[in-house]
Amino acid sequence: MIYRAAIFDLDGVIADTARLHLIAWQQLAEGLNLPWTADTEERLKGLERMASLEVILGEKSSNYTEEAKIALAARKNSRYQELIRSLSPADLLPGAGELLAWLNSQHIPVGLASASKNAPAVLEALGISRCFSVIADPEKSAPKPAPDIFLAAAKGLGIDPEFCIAFEDAPAGVSAIKSADGMTAVGIGNPDSLKDADYMLDSLEQFVPNDFFLSVLAESGMRQNKDLAVNE
Ligand code: BG6
Ligand code: MG
Repeated sequence: MIYRAAIFDLDGVIADTARLHLIAWQQLAEGLNLPWTADTEERLKGLERMASLEVILGEKSSNYTEEAKIALAARKNSRYQELIRSLSPADLLPGAGELLAWLNSQHIPVGLASASKNAPAVLEALGISRCFSVIADPEKSAPKPAPDIFLAAAKGLGIDPEFCIAFEDAPAGVSAIKSADGMTAVGIGNPDSLKDADYMLDSLEQFVPNDFFLSVLAESGMRQNKDLAVNE
């Protein structure tokens, strides 16, 4: 398959911000004397803010009112925002900057499908906002593992989901891609927890874009034969 667009998760794919989310959640859990078990980290990946809080609170959830939960989530978010203040282009994960630059140079549309409401600020700090032509709004989509945010990104790019390839580090994110109307999932990171991904990489550095994309520049010369553009 030759793809026409790329869609990225942000935290843990483009920058090591998944780690910063975990630091902020872990500090909140410690402050509340809540357990931090071995699988907490994996379970939190990709989950939106209030769903993450429920994982942290676990069986203690019913001890907190909705108001108290909103205050706890806001506390975690303030800590996270402190942590991302020091981000710079040096914090791009290996291969991320190079891949985005290549996609932009080939005029291949690039979208973001992150659950994070802080994504625009993180992209700005990393110096890559202008690499994305669409940033899907997590407040307008059902949270991952629902496919909605990936479908919204594809729609914003004007490319059918089956011609989009999407990159994710979280099990919930890979599930979202796999239910997004034929979209292809590239898992980044832990192969044990991302078994449903179509491709698996340790990092974006291993991704060879020439093998996957039809450049818009090349396509302009191929428009007469549509089949050619979608063949393996
Ligand atoms: C995801 C992260 O990208 O965004 C999660 O993987 C995080 O860890 C979620 O909880 C929501 O982020 P935010 O910044 O809106 O609280
Ligand atoms: Mg992620």
